[in-house]
Amino acid sequence: MQIVNTIAGMRRLVRQWQRAGFPVAFVPTMGYLHPGHVSLIREARKYAGRKGQVVVSIFVNPTQFGPGEDLAKYPRDLTRDKKLCEDAGTNALFVPTAKEMYPPGFSTWLSEETLSRGMEGASRPGHFRGVATVVGKLFHIVQPDAAIFGAKDFQQSAVIQQIVRDLNFPLKIIVAPTVRETDGLAMSSRNKYLSAAHRKQATILWQTVERAKSRVSRGRVPVAEMKEDLRRFIARAPDARVDYINFFDPGTLEAAHEVRKGTQLALAVFIGKTRLIDNDTL
Ligand code: PAJ
Repeated sequence: MQIVNTIAGMRRLVRQWQRAGFPVAFVPTMGYLHPGHVSLIREARKYAGRKGQVVVSIFVNPTQFGPGEDLAKYPRDLTRDKKLCEDAGTNALFVPTAKEMYPPGFSTWLSEETLSRGMEGASRPGHFRGVATVVGKLFHIVQPDAAIFGAKDFQQSAVIQQIVRDLNFPLKIIVAPTVRETDGLAMSSRNKYLSAAHRKQATILWQTVERAKSRVSRGRVPVAEMKEDLRRFIARAPDARVDYINFFDPGTLEAAHEVRKGTQLALAVFIGKTRLIDNDTL
C-alpha cells in the first residue's frame, strides 16, 4: 500500500493507473476507521476487481464542521487506520494536510441547494457545503471510476449523487449498507465519545427505527402521531434529546404525508453531548 500526502503525488499515481486501464474505486473517509468503513473498502475492491486500484482518503475536513462542533477533538489514529486499510486491500492511502487541500486564499465552494436543506443541513449550517467541496476536490484529484459511500449518512449520499448528476462527474456512486454493532447501534467514529452509561442509552436510535418498522407493518400511521409516539419512546433514555425525526421518500427526500412501508426514517439524537444519527427504510 502506498501512502500519499500530496495532490501532485496522487495525480502521478492516477496517471500511471490510467495507462494500465484498470478501474479505480475510491472511499473517502475522515479516518478513525471501523468495520463500517472497512465494508466500503471491500465494496471498492469488489468494483475494482483483482487488477484494479482501491484508494482510501483520510482527511478530517475542517470546512464541514461548524464553530461549536468537534473538529479539534475528532478522534484520530493513523497507525491503526493504515493497518486496517492495508488488511482490507487498499492500494493507495491519500492523507493530505489541511494546507494541501485549502491553501491560503482558497475561495471556491460547491453547494447543492435542495436536498441539503433539511435535516443535517438545517441542524449543521454549512456542513454540506464543506462535504460537497471536499468530495468534489477529491473526485478531481483521484479521478475514480466509482466512489463508495455509506447508507449510514443517507442524506450525504443523496447530496453527492445529486452533485455527480448535476455536474457530470464521470463516476458511479455506490451506496453500501450500514454496519451495526450487535445491539443495533450504527458504527460511527463518534461512538468513541460515549461513556459506558451513554453507550447503553445510544441503542435507543436503532430501537426507535425498529419500533417504527413494527408499527408500519400493521398499517399506515399519520406523521404527527408516529413522531409523537417515537419522541415519547426516546424519552425513556434519560440523557437523550431529539434533534429531529423525519419521514420522507427515499428517492426524492420529499416529506412523507403518512408513514408506511417504504417510507424513509432519519433521526438525530443527542445522547448527553454526543450527537448521533441513524436511518432506515421502514
Ligand atoms: P466518515 O464519517 O469518516 O465516513 C466515511 C464513509 O463511511 C461515509 O460514506 C459514511 O457514510 C460511511 N460510514 C460511516 N459509518 C458507517 C457504517 N456504520 N456503515 C457503513 N458505512 C458507514 O462521511 C464522512 O466521513 C465525510 O463527510 C466525507 C464523505 C469523508 C467527506 O469529508
